[in-house]
Amino acid sequence: MLKCNKECFVWRMLHLLLVCISIYLCLYFYASGHLGAIRGNAVYKEAVQDFQVVESKFVRQDQFVSASHSLKQDRSQKKDSVTEVPATNKIIAAASRAPNSTQPKNHSLVIENDDNTLLGTFKSRILSNLTLPLLTLFTSWNENPEKHLVHNLTLINWRPLHPYVIPVVFTNESSVINECSKAGVTALPLSTVAADGIPVLKYMFRDAMDHFNTSFYAFSNGDILFTDTLIHTLAQIINSTAVYLSKPVLIVGHRTNVNNVTFEEGSYWENITRISRSRGELFGDWAEDYFITTPSYPWNKVAEVVIGRRAYDNWLVYNARKMNYTVIDATNTLLAVHQTTNAGNFEGLNHSNSYYNHDLLVKMYNSIPYEAGDLGCIEMFTQYDLKQFQVKARKVPAYCSV
Ligand SMILES: *[C@@H]1O[C@H](CO)[C@@H](O)[C@H](O)[C@H]1NC(C)=O
Ligand SMILES: *[C@@H]1O[C@H](CO)[C@@H](O)[C@H](O)[C@H]1NC(C)=O
Ligand SMILES: *[C@@H]1O[C@H](CO)[C@@H](O)[C@H](O)[C@H]1NC(C)=O
Ligand SMILES: *[C@@H]1O[C@H](CO)[C@@H](O)[C@H](O)[C@H]1NC(C)=O
Ligand SMILES: *[C@@H]1O[C@H](CO)[C@@H](O)[C@H](O)[C@H]1NC(C)=O
Ligand SMILES: *[C@@H]1O[C@H](CO)[C@@H](O)[C@H](O)[C@H]1NC(C)=O
Ligand SMILES: *[C@@H]1O[C@H](CO)[C@@H](O)[C@H](O)[C@H]1NC(C)=O
Ligand SMILES: *[C@@H]1O[C@H](CO)[C@@H](O)[C@H](O)[C@H]1NC(C)=O
Ligand SMILES: *[C@@H]1O[C@H](CO)[C@@H](O)[C@H](O)[C@H]1NC(C)=O
Ligand SMILES: *[C@@H]1O[C@H](CO)[C@@H](O)[C@H](O)[C@H]1NC(C)=O
Ligand SMILES: *[C@@H]1O[C@H](CO)[C@@H](O)[C@H](O)[C@H]1NC(C)=O
Repeated sequence: MLKCNKECFVWRMLHLLLVCISIYLCLYFYASGHLGAIRGNAVYKEAVQDFQVVESKFVRQDQFVSASHSLKQDRSQKKDSVTEVPATNKIIAAASRAPNSTQPKNHSLVIENDDNTLLGTFKSRILSNLTLPLLTLFTSWNENPEKHLVHNLTLINWRPLHPYVIPVVFTNESSVINECSKAGVTALPLSTVAADGIPVLKYMFRDAMDHFNTSFYAFSNGDILFTDTLIHTLAQIINSTAVYLSKPVLIVGHRTNVNNVTFEEGSYWENITRISRSRGELFGDWAEDYFITTPSYPWNKVAEVVIGRRAYDNWLVYNARKMNYTVIDATNTLLAVHQTTNAGNFEGLNHSNSYYNHDLLVKMYNSIPYEAGDLGCIEMFTQYDLKQFQVKARKVPAYCSV
């Protein structure tokens, strides 16, 4: 009897334990289900907040248009509050030994290289098919009478980069194809579009690589004018031992805004350099208008972001940094002039589908720390030191951490 009682007691305890475990498990799954939902929600909010940070920058930027001084103040404040990121890889480790970030105060100040020996060597080797051209440079635009001058100047500007550069415009519009053929620029069909006909960036890279073999491939917005600083920079990077070009490399940089570029000004590299010095304004840290990559850059793994709509530029730089690709800020050696028209510097913000990229990225990744895609977060940068081209490392602020 006593024995039975003892056994019963043990059985009861076991039952109790089982019931407890079941209740615990029930509660656990119920709660975690809810937690998941809440967390999802929080993540979404975080992403939206991230984006609002970017948005608030744009608001600040609007003020910059009328009062450029505020941005410079803002920049120097940002620099003062810089804290260092822990060294997590070779580049950052090198950066921690490197001098502090040397952002140009005054842009227009791309130091030009007057030594053409390297380019001369490239030119003769390219023309005799011993070396690949440096770059396939492509863009895309829609026929727009208000942009005729801008687009004409872009075609006029890109064409003389031959034989170093193969300029390409992706378009299916006969009027644009016509303009390209008059200017001697290749037009290729636009294979993949999204959001009511906007080109998806990665497929332009794929198609450019299918059509041309070059050392680099670049998308640039259709209103950006370059000078020979573009080809000098790329030739020097190829000659540099500091960059492994067989690996994925992404090169970006600040643009310089110049208002009302006239036909005469935009038609010659010397004049472009001159107007960038006399009335150019270095645009913000968060705007990237061109993306130069090596052939091994894994564009197939990149999200299907479209051009000309907010968020894709910072995300691309953030993503490249997160993936530990080599990312280089070429601002100091590469002049990229933005032809600012009456539409202003924030056209992409006002278009239909303005949130297309952000919505797509939130669905894929929940949270996007856009600020880590700022130009100021890029550890490597180009520079001429006593006329010697250098690829250097610098410290970046803590908010850049990925
Ligand atoms: C990043 O790449 C560098 C070399 O390019 C390598 O030394 C480092 O281990 C990589 N870091 C990570 C986190 O993969
Ligand atoms: C870099 O900046 C920090 C603080 O802004 C300063 O303490 C440090 O001395 C600077 N280092 C160099 C090498 O200029
Ligand atoms: C900025 O540009 C002005 C004139 O363009 C020049 O006088 C000045 O030295 C430059 N400042 C710096 C820091 O390079
Ligand atoms: C190419 O690189 C080598 C070694 O890195 C350097 O000595 C040479 O000056 C560079 N050529 C040019 C034209 O800059
Ligand atoms: C180089 O290749 C192109 C096209 O493949 C060809 O048209 C051209 O004649 C070649 N040039 C030389 C010098 O072999
Ligand atoms: C652009 O170029 C085309 C011809 O190439 C010309 O017909 C047109 O007038 C030009 N537009 C402007 C605004 O320069
Ligand atoms: C552009 O034209 C090509 C054929 O030339 C076609 O395959 C492609 O689907 C067209 N693209 C768009 C966006 O209509
Ligand atoms: C590019 O080079 C590869 C081999 O190196 C060749 O198979 C391919 O046909 C070339 N593509 C073009 C467009 O010339
Ligand atoms: C461009 O020039 C026009 C007059 O020619 C002027 O009204 C406009 O304000 C200028 N735009 C900018 C952005 O300077
Ligand atoms: C543009 O450059 C050309 C050639 O260097 C020069 O003749 C012309 O005067 C310049 N025009 C302007 C408006 O700067
Ligand atoms: C944005 O669009 C609105 C209405 O569509 C227009 O009133 C406004 O001027 C536009 N702003 C810019 C910067 O284009």
